[in-house]
Amino acid sequence: MTHSGMQVSQSAQIPLTEAGEPSSTEAFWRHDPPYHLFLLTSMAFAVLAGFTLAILAPLSIVLEWGWGRRFMPLIQAHGQAQVLGFVGLFIIGMAYRLMPRFSGRPLGFPALAWASWPLLSLALVLRLIAQPAGEGLWQRTLLVSSGSLGMLAAIAFALVVVGTLLHRESRAEATGYFFVLAGAFFVLQAGINLALVVLTAQRGSDVIRPIESAALLHVQLYGFITMFILGVASRAIPSISGLPRPQVQAKALALALAAAVLVFGIAALWVGSGAWSAALLRTEAISFAALGPIFLAGVWVVGIFRPAANRLAGASTHHIWLIRATFAWLLIAGGLSAYYGVRAISGGEFIPAYGLDATRHAVGIGVASMMIAGMAMLILPEFAIRRTRHPNERWPAFTILALLSAAAALRVAAAVATPYWLDTGR
Ligand code: HEM
Repeated sequence: MTHSGMQVSQSAQIPLTEAGEPSSTEAFWRHDPPYHLFLLTSMAFAVLAGFTLAILAPLSIVLEWGWGRRFMPLIQAHGQAQVLGFVGLFIIGMAYRLMPRFSGRPLGFPALAWASWPLLSLALVLRLIAQPAGEGLWQRTLLVSSGSLGMLAAIAFALVVVGTLLHRESRAEATGYFFVLAGAFFVLQAGINLALVVLTAQRGSDVIRPIESAALLHVQLYGFITMFILGVASRAIPSISGLPRPQVQAKALALALAAAVLVFGIAALWVGSGAWSAALLRTEAISFAALGPIFLAGVWVVGIFRPAANRLAGASTHHIWLIRATFAWLLIAGGLSAYYGVRAISGGEFIPAYGLDATRHAVGIGVASMMIAGMAMLILPEFAIRRTRHPNERWPAFTILALLSAAAALRVAAAVATPYWLDTGR
């Protein structure tokens, strides 16, 4: 659109020059945020750190490389590289791109959006160096610096979310609930992480105790990642499936998920502090089991399996299979959490580590990685351009679908099989 030679950005009413560039410094900061930077860094963390460590750490045991007690620090580095590096940076980049589009508001505090990229990337690089570095003053300094930078990154991200969506002119509706809650949980996980790395450094250790990290991983995987995915999907999928966009149900879903995550997080932190009781374990188990019906409700609200119409252009119909698979894995994750949660309630005991691990990987690989692949291909302009040039290209979507489904099935099955199959063959 042109007004006296000036275009206006569709995303946020930003004046652009004829060349499509922002017309002032102010407009430059408010122009499309640096989502490419986030997405490329996310891919770098996935390929160079998260998935590489996922291969090397188990191989070190099977092939007896003698890494010994390095295994746990490396696995914790793998977990954070995947959850915050690969998935987290992708989510933050997409949030910056999507928020102005669905709220009709320019990005709040855009300079903080830019700042969150080096802060979070550096925090993760320091973590990746510190954890396998052994025990020492340098390692402890790096670990605590990493936690502090992660906290600053989280505050920056949350301020951008709140500054954009909590405005009376925002049209974010139910999606705003999911994003604001995901932003709040992102700050909460950064706070828990900082406390845990300080505690670990005080103990002179390079490993966060698994009983203490349960709350952290829960808030990261379900409070931040799953919350964001449900927010995007409950807005994007109904328009593809020809369904009315859910409002009341979607808001209730966001609040129910937040409540279940919060209860688990508080109970798990309490258990982690050592002051635990049967009532506390039962509370933890109930809130874990509650993820089952909540994920089931999430799949229903999103409506991917009950379409009223098919509004996808021909070339996009292959990619929707990745989104269907995402929500099939969310159902599996819900089944696992309900099963292990109910078992722990009836036995009045801890949820087994392999049950937590199976559910984490059903969400980490089956839901989050699959959603990243599917949504990127469906909504990023770069892929839309590719689709216009290759309208019948189906192999990338189906190859990724087959590989990710196989990876998720093998990883989850290996965790579920733990009590029956303890040798390194697993
Ligand atoms: C095929 C790919 C993957 C493989 C082979 C893999 C493998 C592993 C292994 C062996 C562990 C240690 C389990 C234990 O002994 O307790 C682990 C932990 C973990 N993984 Fe993965 N993983 C993969 C993908 C992912 C993805 C995509 C995510 C998240 C997006 C993820 C998140 C985690 C987390 C959070 C932990 C727990 C770390 C901790 O204890 O602090 N993983 N993974």
